[in-house]
Amino acid sequence: MKHIISAGQFSKEEVEKILKCAKEMEISVKEGKVEKILKDKIVATIFFEPSTRTRLSFETAALKLGAQVISSENAMENSSAYKGETIEDTTRMLSAYADVIVMRHPKAGTAEVASKVSAKPIINGGDGANQHPSQGFLDLYTIKKEHGRLDNLNIGFGGDLLNSRTLKSLLPLLRHYVGNKFYFISPKELELPREFIAELKEHNVNFEELSSLDEKISELDVLYMTRVQKERFADEASYDKVKNLFILKKEHLNSLKENAIIMHPLPKINEIEIEVDLDPRAAYFRQAENGVYVRMALLAYSLES
Ligand code: CP
Repeated sequence: MKHIISAGQFSKEEVEKILKCAKEMEISVKEGKVEKILKDKIVATIFFEPSTRTRLSFETAALKLGAQVISSENAMENSSAYKGETIEDTTRMLSAYADVIVMRHPKAGTAEVASKVSAKPIINGGDGANQHPSQGFLDLYTIKKEHGRLDNLNIGFGGDLLNSRTLKSLLPLLRHYVGNKFYFISPKELELPREFIAELKEHNVNFEELSSLDEKISELDVLYMTRVQKERFADEASYDKVKNLFILKKEHLNSLKENAIIMHPLPKINEIEIEVDLDPRAAYFRQAENGVYVRMALLAYSLES
C-alpha cells in the first residue's frame, strides 16, 4: 500500500517509473488497448472542495483501468462531515468500502492525517495551499512530452505563488533534474512564502524572484501561470486588491520563444487573455488531458504490493 501525500516523498527512480507508466497508459488509451488491471477494485473520491479536473480525471482513469467508482463531491455538505464527523472517522469508513481513496480538502495536512488511520492508500487530491502531487506529476509529464527533456530549462512561474499548491508540488519533482533555472514572477502580495524560499536556498536551487513578466519572458522555455486563489483570501476586499495585478496578454506572445510552452493547472479566470488560448504554445488543455494518463499510473502505483 502506497499513500501519495506529497511530491517530496518520491525518489528520482520512482518519479521516472511513474512517468514511464503514464506514457504506457497514454499509448494504451490511444490504441484502445487498456489492460483492466484494476478490475474488482473500488476507487473512492471524496472532495471537500470544488474540482473539475482532478476528481473527474481520477474517476476517468479508474474506469479506464476497469475499477468501479464511489464518489462524494461537495463533501463538506453532502457527507457526514456536515454533521460534524471527523476526517479520521470518515476515512476509516471509506477505507472499509474502497481499495484506494482520492481526497481533496481545504485544510493543509488533511491527507496526511487521513493516511494515519486509513487501511487503504490515500491519494492527496489537494490539501489547502499545501500539496497537489498528482498535478505535480501531470505537469512534469507535460513538460517532458512537450520539450523532450526535464533538464536545462528556464521555467517561469507567474501569478499567485503564495497560494499555489501546484508550484509547491512541481518543484520538488523538478529538483531531481539538473541545470534548470526557475523564475518566480509575482506581485509582492502574492510572492512565495519566505520559508519556501529558504528551503530552496538550502537545496541550492537556481532561482530568481521577479515582479514583472516582461523582464525574462524571452528566455523562458516554460511559462507556468497560476490563478489568484480567491478561496484562500481572508476577505473579498483583499482578493479584489490583487486579482487583476498579473495578466498574460496577447502582446506578451511576441516576446516568447517559438518553442516555449504556456502551462496553467486550470481553472483559469482572467490571468490569461482569452486570445492566448489560440496560440499553439498554450499547452494548458493538453496538460489537463495528460492528467488522465498520469492518474492511471498513480492509481496503479498506489495499489502495487
Ligand atoms: N488543476 C486542478 O486541480 O483543477 P480542478 O480544481 O478542477 O481539480
